[in-house]
Amino acid sequence: MTDRYDLPAGFRWGVSTAAYQIEGAVEEDGRGPSIWDAFCERPGAVKNGDSGRVACDHYRRWPEDVALMKGLGLDGYRFSVAWSRVQPEGRGKANAAGLDFYERLVDGLLEAGIAPLPTLFHWDLPQALEDEGGWMQRETAFRFAEYAALVADRLGDRVPAWITLNEPFVHMVFGYALGIHAPGRGLMLDALPVAHHQLLGHGLAAADLRSRGLDVLIANNLTPVRAASEAAEDRAAADAYDALHNRLFMDPLLLGRYPDLSAYGVGEDLHGAVRDGDLELIARPGLDGLGVNYYNPTRIAAPTDPGLPFTQAPIEGVPHTHFGWPVVPDGLHELLVGLRERYGDALPPITITENGCSTDDAADTDPLDDSDRIAYLAGHLDALARAAADGIDVRGYYTWSLLDNFEWAEGFSQRFGLVHVDFDTQVRTPRASYAWYRDLIGDHVARHGR
Ligand code: BGC
Repeated sequence: MTDRYDLPAGFRWGVSTAAYQIEGAVEEDGRGPSIWDAFCERPGAVKNGDSGRVACDHYRRWPEDVALMKGLGLDGYRFSVAWSRVQPEGRGKANAAGLDFYERLVDGLLEAGIAPLPTLFHWDLPQALEDEGGWMQRETAFRFAEYAALVADRLGDRVPAWITLNEPFVHMVFGYALGIHAPGRGLMLDALPVAHHQLLGHGLAAADLRSRGLDVLIANNLTPVRAASEAAEDRAAADAYDALHNRLFMDPLLLGRYPDLSAYGVGEDLHGAVRDGDLELIARPGLDGLGVNYYNPTRIAAPTDPGLPFTQAPIEGVPHTHFGWPVVPDGLHELLVGLRERYGDALPPITITENGCSTDDAADTDPLDDSDRIAYLAGHLDALARAAADGIDVRGYYTWSLLDNFEWAEGFSQRFGLVHVDFDTQVRTPRASYAWYRDLIGDHVARHGR
């Protein structure tokens, strides 16, 4: 099946992955421990006691994975660089052997005609920095900028576009507020400085990258927020949730200010984290593109628990993925149109840096016949094409993910790959969605060229 989506000429097709989710080789070539190595050791933290120690063994098998990408006819590949391979202790001079790996990968991609799009931080902070407070510490922002510069020193001549952070919202909430991801802290709203310090790190790194003539993006997890009803209480709750999930990570970048978080009893300085001049450091470098990671909308009702000004409500009457996430492709259109309404000309061009769904390998069906995934992707590409037709400047789509991989707290139980991975043998087998995506890209290229 090949569907036609009216996406613009020059549109870039890609896949996304992240270091800790695929690389394995956690002790290779001087890599230092990250917070995910430590978190996976905690009894009960990750489903079935899984960890990323081996994952997809991509550190060794990357040539095979690049060949799979080439088979798809991709324009681009979004991966992440593991900070603790570059700076095992999170500071100081670069570990050359760690950078060598990313250099081999980048050169292999370029040889295959695929543009590398690295993310500098996809949640795997060096444990040494966590021991000093992690992203609760302002210092970490400055360490991040130093690390980013070391990577750019090595690869900036071959990699024109960079993503600073992946989903600072999810890292703050899951990692520091709720503790269901590394570093496993349960700070609730006291975690808010983590938002600011990540954004400050972004701003400092972005200024340096842009001064080298490189393009800078950030990949934010964004969700259109729907009130459970028209009742004033539900709408106020939806607005409060939107401020926390979306605007907290967009307004400072595009408008140079934080949203009103008074519903949370939190002032503009986010518990004292924001200092004079910081918002300029965050907004001034500017963004060459906004990476949007979209999975589903969020439905919000008035609070039932006094601790928070909202309650999450289920979205009914739609299919759900194996993860239990509602499948609402139109939410992507709603999200993008909403961003333009909110930010107008301040909104940079958009690249979808993640979108995809997990399927159930244990189910009594052929794990390679992932018609649910094809339907998911087709629906979302249709919504994206409608957004483009409505004048939104969309530049690319990177599906999550190339391979089944280590899905954080869910271990290997949620499979997001176009390619099935047998984690006992490391055998990769393309699913039906792989052929579907390949044909879709081929069709687009036949009509528009590269
Ligand atoms: C993350 C990925 C993750 C995916 C599916 C995103 O939040 O950036 O690392 O695997 O969602 O849960």
